[in-house]
Amino acid sequence: MNEIYDKLTKCYQRVREYTDFKPLAAIVLGSGLGDYASQIRVESELPYGQIDGFPVSTVPGHAGKFIFGTIDDIPVVCMKGRVHYYEGYDISDVVLPVRLMGLMGAKILFLTNAAGGVNPSFHAGDLMLIRDHIALFAPNPLIGPNVEELGVRFPDMSTVYDRQLQELIRTAAGENDISLQEGVYTQLTGPSFESPAEIKMLRLLGADAVGMSTVVEAIAANHMGMRICGISCISNLAAGMTESPLTHEEVQEAADLAAPRFAKLVTESVKKFGALL
Ligand code: HPA
Repeated sequence: MNEIYDKLTKCYQRVREYTDFKPLAAIVLGSGLGDYASQIRVESELPYGQIDGFPVSTVPGHAGKFIFGTIDDIPVVCMKGRVHYYEGYDISDVVLPVRLMGLMGAKILFLTNAAGGVNPSFHAGDLMLIRDHIALFAPNPLIGPNVEELGVRFPDMSTVYDRQLQELIRTAAGENDISLQEGVYTQLTGPSFESPAEIKMLRLLGADAVGMSTVVEAIAANHMGMRICGISCISNLAAGMTESPLTHEEVQEAADLAAPRFAKLVTESVKKFGALL
């Protein structure tokens, strides 16, 4: 058997020893959405450390566990804490959690993150609906023998971010008076923030926001046929756009400030997804 699939199915079996919960939607909680569990009727939790072979995050603010529960009767699994490529994991380990949630049954993947604003019309605290992405420098997670059990060798990427889900998120934002930017998210590897010249390059390439996650997860989830959507919390303007240097603390503080709006938008959107499930 393919090594990657073997590890994935072992993790899956381990999860099934703890719970037979079948989520319909999976939510990856980015920086600042750490307290999101308060929006969920929690049924159970599973710390990543209890799943043998599962990559456990080392970043402060990314303590890791799966939270199983319901939002408006929709069964969801949330990842509190994700794994980043810059932590030194193989790219296949970085996307293992998302694949695992797909195997558990999730049809929809809701990706969230904190990101730097590249578009000069954005402000810290804005929320951005991800319409498309650009992968830069992080390896493609599908490199290597194709895992046929998950998907095809050459997956189409023309609508990674599901149009119907995007529309439901727009409606949820409108109904709740939450203003929403839209744009293209770019993933670089990190962990250093970008240089001002790199941000200028990203703007020329068509990026609106930049971060260190999400794109590789979307590629893996798209490969296995999940319906994907995503929202970025613009925690700061990217390097060179203001005078002040960037710090992880600033990113977390700004994301924390936006958290109630962010959480509301995610919750109200998921409620609308019920119509598609
Ligand atoms: N760059 C990259 N990743 C980020 C940023 C940024 O400016 N802000 C939050 N995550």
